[in-house]
Amino acid sequence: MDQATTSFVETFRRFMSEVVNAPRHAQSSVTPLGEVVAEHLGVELGALPILTETMLSHRLADADIALDELSELGAGRLVGVTGGNSRGHQAFTDLLDNPHFPYAIGPVDYTTAATGPSTERRTVAFGLRLLEFAGRPVAVLQRGAAPEHGREDARLEVVAADGATAEAFVAEVRRLMLERSVLRGQVLTIGGGQFGRGSGHLTFVERPDVPVEHVILDEATLHGIIRHVVGMGEQREVLRGAGQHLKRGLLLYGPPGTGKTHTVRHLLGRTPGTTAVLLTGPAIGYIALAAEVARAMQPSIVVLEDVDLVANDRAIMPGNSVLFAILDALDGLDGDADVTFILTTNRVEVLEHALADRPGRIDHAAEIPLPDADARRRLLRLYAGSLSFSSDALDAAAERADGTTGSFAKELVRRTVLTAAEEGRDPADADLERALDELLSSRAELTRKLLVGGAGGVDGGEPPHPAVSFGFFGGR
Ligand SMILES: Nc1ncnc2c1ncn2[C@@H]1O[C@H](COP(=O)(O)OP(=O)(O)O)[C@@H](O)[C@H]1O
Ligand SMILES: [Mg+2]
Repeated sequence: MDQATTSFVETFRRFMSEVVNAPRHAQSSVTPLGEVVAEHLGVELGALPILTETMLSHRLADADIALDELSELGAGRLVGVTGGNSRGHQAFTDLLDNPHFPYAIGPVDYTTAATGPSTERRTVAFGLRLLEFAGRPVAVLQRGAAPEHGREDARLEVVAADGATAEAFVAEVRRLMLERSVLRGQVLTIGGGQFGRGSGHLTFVERPDVPVEHVILDEATLHGIIRHVVGMGEQREVLRGAGQHLKRGLLLYGPPGTGKTHTVRHLLGRTPGTTAVLLTGPAIGYIALAAEVARAMQPSIVVLEDVDLVANDRAIMPGNSVLFAILDALDGLDGDADVTFILTTNRVEVLEHALADRPGRIDHAAEIPLPDADARRRLLRLYAGSLSFSSDALDAAAERADGTTGSFAKELVRRTVLTAAEEGRDPADADLERALDELLSSRAELTRKLLVGGAGGVDGGEPPHPAVSFGFFGGR
């Protein structure tokens, strides 16, 4: 060590010991942000309790709307917080009082939250709101979910000079969030995955628009279904007034491809303003969340599609069958809740026992059978649209297509158009006939294969996963 180095080391050592032995100033750990909050509240922060309200991340937009409204009323201002990434790890108290980092006022962080299938809202993802509520000062830290910091929930952290004010404020936020919710009147799916516009688990979808003329069903069947879902909703005041319950359960059952989903889409189109939650396949595991949304956002509809596929799947809902969870959800809602449950299934026998054991959950069951000759004719006409087939050709095709479904009719017309297009022609009667030959023979082949390979038949067991295997062929 030369002299310069020795002298530096000595200086450094003295400096370090001064740092280590320096007395801590209890007051100095209040951050600049803490000073702003204390000034707003008009009290020392001391041990003021912080009220934390956590919510699923898809409710952040609702919270933002509610808080904007309360801010407007309460001469509020919105500020951000410095500190970059480190803020995410800190509790609100640590932002206000911190010996390591002087958190201060900085830029507000925003995120975009979906508010509909094609709308979104710039929403505060990290910001501090200082406002007055009922004449008393309140400070709210608003944060979106931060999965990278292990926080899946969005949250509000509220501090006021007295606990009662904080509590009353949170209650008002909750009320406004419900009243102004962006979910209200929307069609939603849960577990929508990477497609569609999501916020948390919920995804907004466009409300379907299927005119009644496009639903080819037996008149009485269709009328009964519409009456149960739409008609009862229209008469809700009369029914309520007469002490009748509004909660209702509809079951649509029948072979795949016969139009159960199609019918549901029609019903959704006829109930604008109704909040609808659609659950398909494994997403049916979110039944409790769906029921909660439905209860909060009445009038509402919960659709559980192809229930048979997951009814007994314990992987989706460990410790309980999905079917029982569904029944619990049906039971859990008050009778006067204006909530309709619609279940669809290809195999009603999977549900029969459970539903029979707890009667009254499903109060209308409609069979959607394979179409008869007349219905097949109407289906072909519908899907042929403006294509110029002769009546005779359509009738003949309908006759030959015995045992097929609506989705078969649709596919038949598509193939006909394709066959003709490949030969550079407009589709004609002969193309329809050829496409039908093709489809009927491939259908026979697939059916044969399934029967040979399947477990069903001999021992009277069920064919293997008919819903999946038969697809649009309508499986018989
Ligand atoms: N009864 C029907 N009326 C009109 N179109 C139908 C009908 N059945 C099936 N389709 C057509 O076939 C498609 C598939 O039917 P879908 O409703 O998904 O069958 P399911 O839900 O019963 O398995 C529908 O989107 C529709 O285009
Ligand atoms: Mg379906």
